[in-house]
Amino acid sequence: MIDRATVERIKSTADIVDVVGDYVHLIRRGSNYMGLCPFHNERTPSFSVNKQRNFCYCFSCKKGGSPVNFIMEKEGLTYHEALLHLAKKYGIEVEEQELTDEERERQSLREAMFVANEWAKNKMERDMQDTDEGRDVGLRYFTERGVTDAAIKAFHLGYALDNGHELTDAAKKAGFRIEVFKSLGLVGTSQSGRDYDRFRGRVIFPILNTSGKVIAFGGRDLKGGLAKYINSPESELYKKSNELYGIFQAKASIVKEDKCFLVEGYMDVIGMWQAGLKNVVASSGTALTDGQIAMIHRFTENITLIYDGDAAGIKASLRGIDMLLSHKLNVKVLLLPDGDDPDSFAAKHTPEEFRQYVAEHETDIIRYKAQVMLRSVKEDPQNRITAINSVVESIAHIPDQVARDVYVQECSAILGIPETTIAKSVARVRFGLVEQMKKERSLKNIDSDAPQSTNSPISINNNVLTPNVDLRPRSEKGADRTALYLLEKEVLKYCIRYAFVPFCSYEAFDEEHPEASPEIVDLDVIQYVEEELIQSEMQFSVPVFIQIFDIIKNLRFDLNRQLETYETELNTKYDDLLKKGYDKIAESDMSIPKIEKAELELKKELSESRENDLRLFLKEFAVRELCSHEDDKVRRIATELSFDKHHLSNIYLKGGSSETEEEKLTVLLVRAIDEWKDEIINQKIKEVYNKLKEIAESDSVEEIKDLQNELASLMSVRKEMGRIIGDRTISNRKI
Ligand code: CTP
Ligand code: MN
Repeated sequence: MIDRATVERIKSTADIVDVVGDYVHLIRRGSNYMGLCPFHNERTPSFSVNKQRNFCYCFSCKKGGSPVNFIMEKEGLTYHEALLHLAKKYGIEVEEQELTDEERERQSLREAMFVANEWAKNKMERDMQDTDEGRDVGLRYFTERGVTDAAIKAFHLGYALDNGHELTDAAKKAGFRIEVFKSLGLVGTSQSGRDYDRFRGRVIFPILNTSGKVIAFGGRDLKGGLAKYINSPESELYKKSNELYGIFQAKASIVKEDKCFLVEGYMDVIGMWQAGLKNVVASSGTALTDGQIAMIHRFTENITLIYDGDAAGIKASLRGIDMLLSHKLNVKVLLLPDGDDPDSFAAKHTPEEFRQYVAEHETDIIRYKAQVMLRSVKEDPQNRITAINSVVESIAHIPDQVARDVYVQECSAILGIPETTIAKSVARVRFGLVEQMKKERSLKNIDSDAPQSTNSPISINNNVLTPNVDLRPRSEKGADRTALYLLEKEVLKYCIRYAFVPFCSYEAFDEEHPEASPEIVDLDVIQYVEEELIQSEMQFSVPVFIQIFDIIKNLRFDLNRQLETYETELNTKYDDLLKKGYDKIAESDMSIPKIEKAELELKKELSESRENDLRLFLKEFAVRELCSHEDDKVRRIATELSFDKHHLSNIYLKGGSSETEEEKLTVLLVRAIDEWKDEIINQKIKEVYNKLKEIAESDSVEEIKDLQNELASLMSVRKEMGRIIGDRTISNRKI
């Protein structure tokens, strides 16, 4: 447990741009920042970060939220752990109560696995430094290969002792559940049922995720055995195709240099890192995957692939090109002299020489491909067409039209083929690709949050409008439920976005003293909606909507408490500004009347500005709380509803003629509630009408009469609603 004040402190200290910036390369866009979403693979940025609201959101996959949510989602942490994570980042001290046995029990397997990996990493690091065998074999190996102490430390290199049971025994002794070690592939079980170390007599390369947690290990053989490397198997923590070796150590430099080198192996990363080229990661010997490319793309748009200059290297360099290009990356290739890999090359050259070699030899990938292709088909004109088509295919994968045109031009020169011919081919291939993408996309995007039950507690026995009619929906039809769902969602949207913003005032007469002048009562958005729902005896029917609405209502207490502090702060701030402003005016050599006018203007300006601050605070209060709520579903829906494209475009539309949503709020909210009411009534009418049709043949005259009465009553309500909303909604419907 973390105490409330500390939680508040963590939440108010954590800055969204800062927190997200650790994972995503952000570009400023107006008052926001944009970047590639870290939660799904994408090629064009749809991840928006709003500094003022301390909030992030992906328009595409709809993930995001406060800094706490972001960390939860990104690091796979619980709410509590995410707070601790942020506290650590910002150096906020947290006094925690000891975990109870039960809480410890509840720790997820994932957490246990992280702990086990971390422990194993530490042990193998220590064993390399502190044991004779570790020093004589492991450390010696690294030293002989020229690996520095700094690199050993930075990459947490270690050694697995050779006796076959070192780690297993130590883990058991330390009280770990050995099953966890087995799930991580650190411990294996022999046929006779004995547990043993899977890594032994090997130097160890821990694999860290972007935030520095150990997710797997690679162990290099030192004795000329069959398997040069043994790696951790895929696990809950380690999805090989989504990770890159060295990313944690490299990410800051990748952002700083705005460039990432991609190499093949563990030692290549370390070699280049030592040579001062720290923006380097490895795909660990396999072809690059979409997930890995996306990870790189979060930090930079520029990637240089480094390969051995031998035939195998050249072949490898052409693999996966199209995938890289379709991610909108600027891809370059660097071939090292035949026989060298980055590690050996770095060992032979000074950092300056390495940098110079890079500058002189890295080639744009399409140009490179065209050249290689051309060279390889020179003697074989039959294959010329295949080669050209392959280049065309690559160009077609580039999302940017201008870039495609440039390449068409260049390749026409290299390949000696008319520009128009290549351009036409590219266009044809591109068309096919786009069609395919569209198809893939249309398979997604289905709203999965329709109300779960129709026996929901809706009833609008509105005494004014609907005497004696039970309006609880009995319909089981999916379409009706979806309509209701969408209408409720619309109302809830405004509740979330403008929760405590003043909405309307009315004159309340004291019934006992009707002669007294009425009291003016101000309602904010939530109070207004509450009042409307009570009046019409309506309720949200979607469980999570009910939950969210309740949460907001319960926030009022917190709000009042914090509002006091906030207003004091505001007063101090604006008093100060006013004073400074007055001083400045006084310093100028204006005439007295002019000074008076200036002072008045200043006062007005500041008071408006103060109003705005306050309004923003009221507006953001619920959003902030909801979007960092512990409950996943609440958070997801609140995040989605509080932040949409339209909302954002209003910010961009500065100077545009259209009114903002906030300016139109009165109309929008009233209409949303009316339409919701209207739908309930319409569903009811449909039901009664159908029932009437069903029993029309029977001779239960009484029942028919009852239903007819009910129908008539509903019709009149609908008519009344029609008057309120306007004929538009009514005439659109048929029963
Ligand atoms: N690899 C692997 N399993 C193997 C061989 C290779 O996982 N059996 C991966 C490792 O990540 C390795 C990379 O592929 O780092 C490149 O392989 P290789 O070039 O053979 O190894 P190097 O990293 O160059 O290792 P060294 O320089 O120590 O030979
Ligand atoms: Mn090597």
